[in-house]
Amino acid sequence: MTDPRHFLDLAAMEADTLREIVDLGAAFKRGDADIAPPGCLAGKTLAMIFEKPSTRTRVSFEVGMKQLGGSVVVLAPTEMQIGRGETIADTARVLSRYVDVIMMRTINAGNLRDLANYATVPVINGLTDQSHPCQLMADVMTFEEHRGPIAGKIVAWSGDGNNMVTTWVQAAVKFGFEIRLACPDEFAPSREVLDWGRENGGAVTYTNDPLEAVSGADCVVTDTWVSMGDEAADRRRKILAPYCVNDRLMSAAKPDALFMHCLPAHRGEEVSASVMDGPQSVVWDEAENRLHAQKAILTWCLG
Ligand code: CP
Ligand code: NVA
Repeated sequence: MTDPRHFLDLAAMEADTLREIVDLGAAFKRGDADIAPPGCLAGKTLAMIFEKPSTRTRVSFEVGMKQLGGSVVVLAPTEMQIGRGETIADTARVLSRYVDVIMMRTINAGNLRDLANYATVPVINGLTDQSHPCQLMADVMTFEEHRGPIAGKIVAWSGDGNNMVTTWVQAAVKFGFEIRLACPDEFAPSREVLDWGRENGGAVTYTNDPLEAVSGADCVVTDTWVSMGDEAADRRRKILAPYCVNDRLMSAAKPDALFMHCLPAHRGEEVSASVMDGPQSVVWDEAENRLHAQKAILTWCLG
């Protein structure tokens, strides 16, 4: 039996495979039936385990799977035997006898690893505290549909050094674009992430100065200052206040720079309403592209 095709982290994936997935997502969006046949997952079932809330991930996976002819089971750990101490490993073995692919959003990346280690079907990372790879497939797809190939372009991040930052660094290496990160030291990306990016040939820079990072960028990205599970929200907001993506910061980027945000957004915190709802913002395309990109991920995982 061949190993299942997991989609866990961009760092662990071949660059060619990631390119194939983004292109397949675009084919799904175009409705190109030769490359991306509708109904190609007929008879297949996706199980989704959510240990944290979700709007986009839940709905886009469910709708995507159904549009491909498959079905979905949504599971909350509190309603499963996991909540009463059944191990993730045993849960993985059992679910693998019922379903064809499992997606998990977890409070603990170790749970996802256990699931992938013991499942005999593909496992997809639907967000951990450390990464959010499905989101980045949609983000790269969105950039490219507006501005062409992302390779060689400059993406600037201003805000918290969170799970999205890690995944943007991984994407920069795999898709060949430059990533400039601006975060306060207290909420900086981990040294391990920056080192990994540089050791793997990535153009990755880190500064405390958002203007420096954003200057001349093709795309400006941010995310909430208070991720799911983060504590001390008031303190975080105070320290991160200078990193708000507002009109002044956007004006330092290229005149046609895009603004991206994985959502949910908090206008007046990490982004001003004028940028979020302004002409450079492509956040709704980004949200839509979760659907198309994840159809491609599901199709790739299921061969
Ligand atoms: N961007 C994203 O993953 O959104 P949800 O938390 O709503 O799934
Ligand atoms: N950084 C955010 C992303 C939400 C999609 C979080 O982890 O809560």
